[in-house]
Amino acid sequence: MEPVTTLEDRVVVRNYLGAGDERALADDVLDGLTRPFKELPPKHFYDAAGADLFDRICEQPEYYPTRTERAILVERSAEIAALTGASELVELGSGTAVKTRILLQAMADAGTLERYVPIDVTEGMVRDVAEQLVEEHPGLAVHGIVGDFERHLQHVPEPDGPRIVAFLGGTLGNFTPGSRRRFLRQLAKLLRPQDFLLLGTDLVKDPAIIEAAYDDAAGVTAAFNRNVLKVVNAELDADFDPEAFEHVAFYDHEREWLEMRLRASRKMSVHIGALGLDIDFAPREELRTEISAKFTPERLRDDLAAAGLELAELLTDTDRMFALSLSRPR
Ligand SMILES: C[S@@+](CC[C@H](N)C(=O)[O-])C[C@H]1O[C@@H](n2cnc3c(N)ncnc32)[C@H](O)[C@@H]1O
Repeated sequence: MEPVTTLEDRVVVRNYLGAGDERALADDVLDGLTRPFKELPPKHFYDAAGADLFDRICEQPEYYPTRTERAILVERSAEIAALTGASELVELGSGTAVKTRILLQAMADAGTLERYVPIDVTEGMVRDVAEQLVEEHPGLAVHGIVGDFERHLQHVPEPDGPRIVAFLGGTLGNFTPGSRRRFLRQLAKLLRPQDFLLLGTDLVKDPAIIEAAYDDAAGVTAAFNRNVLKVVNAELDADFDPEAFEHVAFYDHEREWLEMRLRASRKMSVHIGALGLDIDFAPREELRTEISAKFTPERLRDDLAAAGLELAELLTDTDRMFALSLSRPR
């Protein structure tokens, strides 16, 4: 008799975020808010409300990266599927996997699709995406990883066939240049000679276009930015008043990156109960919440080369706003 495969058999979700992970937020808060120049890493934006706000950012007319990356995927996914022959897609920061579906469909159309491995810190999203995708693709197995892609890549399962590791949405730009190269080296370890890295990177362009994208007229990005303070309040028993912070987004010409900050509107002291810590803000003092580096093709090639990777294809839109690159181990 043929073995019967149920939907449950085709979905595995493993959670590597344990008790230690509130500690990860606690460590980042302790470290980042006691520095002379205050800073928090952007991964803490994404509780359920933050993830919804990010989806709404993607719908704003000023936010060009998502729709441009999607358009490139619509146009070139069949080519990516054919060039790579991949049966497996590993995706970092998969979120709601809206764009990923385009590539998965192209792999299915090419007859190669077997497994999808989404990795995200938000458990609900990994589970929902896993369940939806096995319904959409008969025969697809999903191995979801709820974890931090900076700390849990060792839990990515052994490859089942030729693999694409995808890191979309320009999220690589959130790393500072040194840690970006270090992270690319970690990613390169997931690749065998027949595998490819598919990387989405935002490109250097008119700063006015970039600044508008991170400061939409509807104020969605401002709400997303302040959400990190709500996350700290909820998880570390803090008493930030998010509305007392102004959203700031500006392009740093020298470093070629966009910065988001939260500026204290007045002098204040914030108590962080879980850490027994009081943090003082001077009037107009700023807290950096994100950098988003913009790339030139040359910078991208150099960063990839420093990680032992070679650019195979650079796919861009006609206005050269955004790039998807395919690279492989040298
Ligand atoms: C900017 S969104 C991009 C989502 C989607 N890939 C896209 O291109 O639209 C970043 C996603 O990465 C996730 N994320 C951010 N930092 C992470 C980390 N260190 N480990 C795992 N997931 C992370 C967030 O939860 C969020 O879903």
